[in-house]
Amino acid sequence: MQHDDRPVLPRPDAISAEHSAHVADFIRARMADAGGSLSFAEYMQHALYAPGLGYYAAGSRKFGADGDFVTAPEVSPVFGRVLARQCAEVLAEVEGGAILEYGAGSGKLARDILETLARLDALPGRYEILEVSAELQERQARYLRAEIPELVSLVSWLDMPPANHKGVIIANEVLDALPVERFVRSDAGVKQLRVTDDSGVFAIVEAPAPDILSNAVLAIEAELGQVLPVGFVSDISLGLPGWVDALAHTLQHGVAFLFDYGVTRREYYAAERSDGWLRCHFRHHAHNDPLILAGIQDITAWVDFSTVAEAGRNSGLDVAGYSAQAQFLLGGGLDAEMHEFASLPLASQLELSGQVKTLTLPGAMGEHFKCMALRRGDVRTPTAFRMADRTHTL
Ligand SMILES: C[S@@+](CC[C@H](N)C(=O)[O-])C[C@H]1O[C@@H](n2cnc3c(N)ncnc32)[C@H](O)[C@@H]1O
Repeated sequence: MQHDDRPVLPRPDAISAEHSAHVADFIRARMADAGGSLSFAEYMQHALYAPGLGYYAAGSRKFGADGDFVTAPEVSPVFGRVLARQCAEVLAEVEGGAILEYGAGSGKLARDILETLARLDALPGRYEILEVSAELQERQARYLRAEIPELVSLVSWLDMPPANHKGVIIANEVLDALPVERFVRSDAGVKQLRVTDDSGVFAIVEAPAPDILSNAVLAIEAELGQVLPVGFVSDISLGLPGWVDALAHTLQHGVAFLFDYGVTRREYYAAERSDGWLRCHFRHHAHNDPLILAGIQDITAWVDFSTVAEAGRNSGLDVAGYSAQAQFLLGGGLDAEMHEFASLPLASQLELSGQVKTLTLPGAMGEHFKCMALRRGDVRTPTAFRMADRTHTL
């Protein structure tokens, strides 16, 4: 259905194009196994995580200037330095506390946090990484061995969440990488958007929604007190509550800092947002067509933070704070991390101020990105939320 208005994007190089063709063949085979189509969440799961093939499972560059997108730790080490100050506060209150990072990307955030904690004399006993992509695990290990050889012995990689984690959990842009279902509201109820193969091109088809999807959408409508308009298309991560519940089981005492672009449920399903929250990234072009470039572009969906809060509370956590990234950084120690600014050479000052603008300005990453902190046990509210906390809006 979407082939008419495909976005104008750079052409993939020959190796990437060949790889994408393999990923598309793999997805077509899964469609054939499933009787001709896949739910959007299944399609997204294969496109991102099919072993050895998917975007996160294979070798594409992904992060940074020569990849497809930049995340906050790729923009500037200042992000990790401020976050490290928040980690230090929690670690000071949780005896024997460690840090667990989900989805560590290139490893830059781990580097920045460990370097800063070493400088603050607040290193944890362990820095654990839970990363679903074997390719990224290897990349992170190589990077950290080269960048922080004196600290890398603190880092280990886990295959599953530890049973009893105390201290800090971090996940930056992990929730947006969880597969989502797409749906459309019709007169007759909720329809599921599925992906099929239309003469060699992936296309969307509508099908009756399975009960689990339809009930989830009806529950949203009941909460909002209104039926969504006919033709309203949106997204829902049915796996998100389970992901938060697993995190809650892991976190025995301490705080989880979850960063992502996201909004409250009321904003997520506002009538004017009638085309959903999917975003794709290819060579720094953001667009809305997830059906092209299978396996060589990132597919993400904004996060409904009300669901994250609700799932956390259902699993015994409390929301210690919810704020925009700018406020988190400004309240969390950005000024302290900038105190040497005046003594830097002019070129470094310009570079650093550009990075801080990208992290904090509302039109860049400052407002769309949020931090939600989920807490278990007796730990003070991190200072980052003392400037502004929007928990009441959830
Ligand atoms: C958009 S990248 C963000 C990487 C990094 N945190 C950063 O900010 O640059 C998403 C990361 O989450 C990982 N990931 C996806 N699903 C995950 C899951 N269920 N558990 C842990 N990591 C996951 C991906 O492999 C990837 O490393």
